[in-house]
Amino acid sequence: MPKRLEGRTALVSGALRGIGRAITDCLVADGATVIITDLDQDDSDDAAQALSLLPGSSYIRLDATQEGDWQRARDQIERRHGRLDILVNNVGADLTGKVQDLELSAWHRLMAINLDSVFLGTKTFQPLLAKTGGTTPYGSSIINISSVMGLVGMGDVSAYNASKGAVRLFTKSNALEFADAGVPIRVNSVHPGFVDTPLLKQGMNRWAARDSSVTAAGLIEAMAQSTPVKRLAQPIEIGKVVAFLASDDSSYMTGSEVVVDGGWTAR
Ligand SMILES: NC(=O)c1ccc[n+]([C@@H]2O[C@H](COP(=O)([O-])OP(=O)(O)OC[C@H]3O[C@@H](n4cnc5c(N)ncnc54)[C@H](O)[C@@H]3O)[C@@H](O)[C@H]2O)c1
Repeated sequence: MPKRLEGRTALVSGALRGIGRAITDCLVADGATVIITDLDQDDSDDAAQALSLLPGSSYIRLDATQEGDWQRARDQIERRHGRLDILVNNVGADLTGKVQDLELSAWHRLMAINLDSVFLGTKTFQPLLAKTGGTTPYGSSIINISSVMGLVGMGDVSAYNASKGAVRLFTKSNALEFADAGVPIRVNSVHPGFVDTPLLKQGMNRWAARDSSVTAAGLIEAMAQSTPVKRLAQPIEIGKVVAFLASDDSSYMTGSEVVVDGGWTAR
């Protein structure tokens, strides 16, 4: 039996580490050809290691905040593959701190990484996704990685909350815009809870450096204990949900927000 993403081509942003890497693993396991993109140079160890483990994949250096990088990637993909079925806007960074202490430059940088990246990926690849979507039964699929922090607010997290809340509604606007116009692209957002990745660890290290009353390990343990299932998610648990949204198994889903949080927002 063919795998459910056989013949499909996907691009994942920020795909060398953390959730993006796990998403890539899941898409490849389901038979997709994946274009891995990240900030590393083409000959980096992480890129070489990913390519050696992921059959059929290729790597393009793409800073997701730069429109020119997206356009270059689109031109290469059009030339090499002539199609794109799946776009996963995964790139993200965090920023915590009291609103009165946040620097405007740090706010702008966060919005560029978490929000401009989603806009630029969607804008640049919309025509190719639309063309490709017309050749498959249920169209192409864009999956935007938001967060539970795009659903509920939290003290000291206002910048990240704002960026991820914007990703949630940008997703819904695009889903409606495409459906209304008969453009064959589904668009959904995924809202992970606390996931065991380099981003989470670095974020807690920075938090602990600012506040001597806490430690990074203590903050991470508190996150696990505040989650009803009492543990962090593993990146693969997000990857499997993204692979479902990428596939025709989610054919009737567009404009949805899929929460993967161990029950954190169920209260
Ligand atoms: N880790 C969590 O607990 C968690 C929870 C909810 C949502 N998220 C979201 O999931 C996504 C992935 O997070 P993660 O924890 O895997 O992060 P991570 O920092 O562990 O990995 C992110 C990857 O993106 C790359 N990257 C960063 N900036 C980039 C840019 N401008 N252009 C291209 N690549 C860039 C990094 O090099 C890295 O490989 C983010 O959008 C994040 O906000 C994470």
